[in-house]
Amino acid sequence: MADVQRTPVIAGNWKMNKFIAEAAATTSELVPLVSGVSGVKIIVCPVFTALSATADAAKGSNVEVGAQNCYTKESGAYTGEISPHMIKDAGCQWTIIGHSERREYFKESNALLNEKCAFALANGLKVMFCIGETLEQREGGQMNDVLRTQLVEGLQGRTDEEFKSIVIAYEPVWAIGTGVTATVEQAQEAHAFVRGVVRDTFGDAVADAVRIQYGGSVKPDNAGELIQNPDVDGFLVGGAALQAESFAAIIKAGAAN
Ligand code: 13P
Repeated sequence: MADVQRTPVIAGNWKMNKFIAEAAATTSELVPLVSGVSGVKIIVCPVFTALSATADAAKGSNVEVGAQNCYTKESGAYTGEISPHMIKDAGCQWTIIGHSERREYFKESNALLNEKCAFALANGLKVMFCIGETLEQREGGQMNDVLRTQLVEGLQGRTDEEFKSIVIAYEPVWAIGTGVTATVEQAQEAHAFVRGVVRDTFGDAVADAVRIQYGGSVKPDNAGELIQNPDVDGFLVGGAALQAESFAAIIKAGAAN
C-alpha cells in the first residue's frame, strides 16, 4: 500500500438538537478552543435552521460547517427538502449523506443515497457518506455484505476526482448513542474491510487517499486510542460533540496522533 498521509476529519453531528442561538454559541465557544489545532479538518453539522448562524460564528476560523442531509434537486416542488445550493448559500461546504437514522427512520435506499451523493458533489458540496451494520446483522454474520452493498451501491459511479470530496463514515448502528463503542480492534477490522472494498471497487489511488471516519459513542477518553488505528482517519461524533469542551478534547486527541 502506498504511504499516503490522510489528514483526519473530525465532525460533530448535532442531529436534531440546538436552537439557532445555541448552535451559534457552541460554535463561538469551540472556535477559540481549537484555533491552534492543525493537521485536522474540523466540521460541525447543525440543523438546517441553524446553518447560517453557525457558519457566521465559524467564519474566519478552522471550523467548517455542514448540513445533515441534502436533496437531489436544485429547487422546485419538493416540500420539506433542501438543495446543495441552499446549503452553500447558508455558508456551508459539507453535507452528511446516508446517516443510519435516515436509512432507518426515513427509509432512504442505497439508490437514493447514490443520487444524493452525486448531486451534492456535482453542486460543490463535500460529502460525509455514512455506512454501518446493525447488531443483528453483525451477529448474523452479514456485516461484510451489508457494508459492501452500502458502499458499492451508494458510491458507484463516483470518479477519482469526486472521491477527493468524499469522506466515508463507518458508524456501527449498535454503537450509536448507546455508550457502547467499537473496540479498537473491531474498529480497525471494519475500517480495513471498508478500505479493501473501496480498493476492489474504485482502485488503489482512491483507497489509499479516502478518509474513513469512525462514529459511535466516540468520547474524549476513547478518541486517542481509536485514532491510532492505521485505517481510522477521523470521527463523526454525536452526543460528545454537543458540548464545545468535550468536542474540542476529541479534536485534540485526533490531531495529536
Ligand atoms: P454518538 O456519538 O452519540 O454515538 O452518535 C454517533 C453518530 O451517529 C454521529 O453521526
